[in-house]
Amino acid sequence: MARMFTKHQINEAAELLMSGQTVAFPTETVYGLGADATNEQAVQAIFDAKGRPADNPLIVHIGQADLIKKYVTHKPETASKLMDAFWPGPLTIILPSNGTLAKNVTAGLDSVGIRMPDHPVALELLKTCQLPVAAPSANRSGKPSPTTADHVAHDLTGRIAGIVDGGKTGVGVESTVIDCTIDKPMILRPGGVTKSDIEAVIGPIDVASSKVKRDEQPRSPGMKYKHYAPDAPIWIVRGDASQMRKVADEAAERGESVQVLVSKERANELGFSDAVILGSRSDLTGITSNLYDALRQIDDLDVDLVLAESFSKEGIGEALMNRLERAATRII
Ligand code: TXA
Ligand code: MG
Repeated sequence: MARMFTKHQINEAAELLMSGQTVAFPTETVYGLGADATNEQAVQAIFDAKGRPADNPLIVHIGQADLIKKYVTHKPETASKLMDAFWPGPLTIILPSNGTLAKNVTAGLDSVGIRMPDHPVALELLKTCQLPVAAPSANRSGKPSPTTADHVAHDLTGRIAGIVDGGKTGVGVESTVIDCTIDKPMILRPGGVTKSDIEAVIGPIDVASSKVKRDEQPRSPGMKYKHYAPDAPIWIVRGDASQMRKVADEAAERGESVQVLVSKERANELGFSDAVILGSRSDLTGITSNLYDALRQIDDLDVDLVLAESFSKEGIGEALMNRLERAATRII
């Protein structure tokens, strides 16, 4: 059954935002925890509710593309083309900030990440409150991003003023973040819009390495934090089902309880009836959309070790495997 939202609830949420409070709302990627991006105290409440490090900047959400000119010194040609091609949609564009927004939104950087989400509830909320809304994912820091209102409630009940429930989100992983403050734009975080989608519009771009060395300052501050840290270690096991069975048997011999996080095809190959199933291997979009819910399910199980299937890095698989690798402690 689809969860419903009403205009009345959106009006209520908009009023909370306008009065400096925090409200979680659905986007097409994951749920965001929103606050007025011009109000430093309101933005501080986001960091407090999430337990988020103060040096990790927030994404600003707008309801109309032409509003960006209020927040940036200029709009590079590459950014204009990307906005035309992908907004509203899962693409966050890093632009030179003009300093209008609350300082803590950008965590002291001279750039700001902005996106126009492609979700009817998010767009209606942004239109109603008439504010730029700072919104990181609506999870406690270190937990998977929320793809349902229940996930948000689990992490943030008692810490935020409200949740607008728009049902399960679509893409299931966060937006692609691209830095357009440099001549050759660079993807800082893979997401719903793929590298080849972007290159079809603006030509060759760079991709930041997802491996950040210790003591090195990454271009995107969020990349230095280990997100999605699960309770039990996750090992990604490449190769076929026999490889995964071998690793599972070895763990069992050590006396460890094992759970597998796999496609339905792999579960069949293994003959495991209680596997946590992500979907069909032939539908990477579906697998991506289910990933965070599955990671949360695994946290609720009391197991010693999780073995995850390795998927193709083609298309959306790039974002899927980026998130899975960041949750994992080993790739074998
Ligand atoms: O899909 C999404 O992007 C979701 C929904 C709610 O819109 N939001 C989200 O926000 O994932 P968050 O805060 O969890 O991730 C924002 C990422 C972080 O890695 C942060 O470091 C990076 O964007 N970021 C934000 N502003 C930046 C800036 N000015 N320069 C570089 N990186 C920036
Ligand atoms: Mg996040």
